[in-house]
Amino acid sequence: MASPDVVYVNGDFTPRAEARVSVEDRGFVFGDGVYEVLRAIGGRLFATRFHNDRLTRSLEGVRISLSAEDSPERFVDIGKRLLKENRLLQGEAIVYMQVTRGVATRAHAFPEPEVAPSVYISVARFNPYVELAERGASAISHPDLRWARCDLKTLNLLPNVLASQTAKERGAFEAMLVRDGVVTEGAKTNFFGVVDGCLRTHPCDTHILPGITRSVLRDLARELSIDLDETPIKVAEIPRLSELFLTGTTADVMPVVRLDDKPVGKGVPGELTRKLQGVLAESLASGAAGD
Ligand code: PDD
Repeated sequence: MASPDVVYVNGDFTPRAEARVSVEDRGFVFGDGVYEVLRAIGGRLFATRFHNDRLTRSLEGVRISLSAEDSPERFVDIGKRLLKENRLLQGEAIVYMQVTRGVATRAHAFPEPEVAPSVYISVARFNPYVELAERGASAISHPDLRWARCDLKTLNLLPNVLASQTAKERGAFEAMLVRDGVVTEGAKTNFFGVVDGCLRTHPCDTHILPGITRSVLRDLARELSIDLDETPIKVAEIPRLSELFLTGTTADVMPVVRLDDKPVGKGVPGELTRKLQGVLAESLASGAAGD
């Protein structure tokens, strides 16, 4: 018999089919919580320190305090145990971590007295988009309908869900979000482009999620003496893009060769994109940014 798919919920390791949270959990009722998605390769979690810092920042940003025994470091250890128990120590996997404000009768303001946050951690097999990364993906542009704190990794993903669905219906891999005439990021990735020979991406402000892959790639680019200009790409500059790619925990460096049904540059992955794709792949394989 196959071993049960084990997840972690509020202190217990339990088969996924038996895992339970209350219908009054504020994550379920309000989307009141935060999350992280980490990459695991051969049982090693990638860039844990960056993910821990971002989780801490997201928790502080929405004013959720972990219970005294919990910490992002403990969640990483739980993730590792889940990889082992689910026999995912070989190959590629994803670790999902979610913390909500806990269970309480529905009222918008925080529960009083305070309740313990709910913690859910799970793992899953992951198949990287190898073929698409070779050939290049397509994207659509889509209005960025999100709130004013996109820098926090919160559960409220409705605008991202709707943009992703529109992309899917149009046969595209990702929706490139546009706010006030500039490209912010993707529904689940950060966007980089080459305009007039210069590598550009949106700066880390409240309009984008500070992607871990974005940070790792920025450091790798610096080591290669490739300048990164954090000036947002304007919609008006899109026709001048010679390269476009996106980054993310599940997308790595993904070339975008078609945008809104038109070729980007020569319609094939660009030279700089290939170079950065290569160095990120090496970094992931070597566990250089790992724990
Ligand atoms: N998404 N921007 C948004 C809006 C994201 O949701 C993500 C990640 C990124 C890339 O961040 P990172 O490099 O840390 O994965 C950028 C995750 C993977 C998700 O929601 O599944």
